[in-house]
Amino acid sequence: MLRALGRDPYRPAHIHFVVSAPRHAAVTTHLFVKGDAYLDSDAVFGTKESLVVDFVRRNAPEEAKKHGARTPCYTVEYDFVLRRVAELPPAAPRRLPGDQEEAADLVF
Ligand SMILES: [Fe+2]
Repeated sequence: MLRALGRDPYRPAHIHFVVSAPRHAAVTTHLFVKGDAYLDSDAVFGTKESLVVDFVRRNAPEEAKKHGARTPCYTVEYDFVLRRVAELPPAAPRRLPGDQEEAADLVF
């Protein structure tokens, strides 16, 4: 089936990310290595031009050490943009059965 679709069983090189921040919707995505031979034949149709980036090879041991890696290592720059989630209204005060408030005020 992959052959009929012009796809390859190999996926292009990529790395996965889950990016989150308080009061923002989390994003699960991946970045692909620019120049990979399988970018145009991804078996799962996951590549998008906006997700294809340069991974820069770093050969200097001091630079790798700065990132807690061994040489050679690769770095990539990418701006992830998260959508802000609307603020929730403040929670109503919670009352328990037996409190002196009326039953209509119970909030669970
Ligand atoms: Fe993957």
